[in-house]
Amino acid sequence: MKKYTILLPMLALMGAASLSFVAPPPGGGPEIPADIQTLLSKHGCQACHAMDRKLVGPKWTDVAAKGYNAKRIMALVAKPEPNNWPGYPPMAAQNVPKGELSKIANWLVSMKK
Ligand code: HEC
Repeated sequence: MKKYTILLPMLALMGAASLSFVAPPPGGGPEIPADIQTLLSKHGCQACHAMDRKLVGPKWTDVAAKGYNAKRIMALVAKPEPNNWPGYPPMAAQNVPKGELSKIANWLVSMKK
C-alpha cells in the first residue's frame, strides 16, 4: 500500500517532465536577441514569422538569406513585394516606427551568412 503513495506522485512528475520536453524545439539554430524579440512581439511579426519554421510568412533565416541590406528590408516591410515570395500570401504593409524597424532590419542583416 505504502508503495503506491510514493509511486503515483513520481509517475505524475515523470509525465509532466516528459511533456515539457515536447514543447521547446530541440537543437540550436540562431536565437532571437531579447530586445529584437520584444520588438517583433510588440509589432505582431511573430504571428507570421518564426526563426526555425515557416508560418504564414517565411522564417527569419530565409528572409536573412535573401541578402538584403537594412534599407531594403525597411522598404519591404513598409511596402511588401509579394512577388519575392512565390507560394506565400502577400504580407500587408507593416507600420513600424523607423527607429524600431531599423533595429529589426539590422538584426536580419547581421544574421545572413
Ligand atoms: C499576417 C502575417 C504577417 C505579419 C503580421 C508579418 N509578416 Fe512579414 N511576411 C509575411 C508574408 C506572407 C511574407 C511573404 C510575402 C510577402 O513578402 O508579401 C512576408 C515577408 C516579409 C519579409 C520579406 C520581404 C521580401 O520582399 O523579401 C520581411 C523582411 C518581413 N516579412 C518582415 C516582417 C516584419 C518586420 C513584421 C512585423 C512588423 C512582419 N513581417 C509581419 C507575413 C507577415
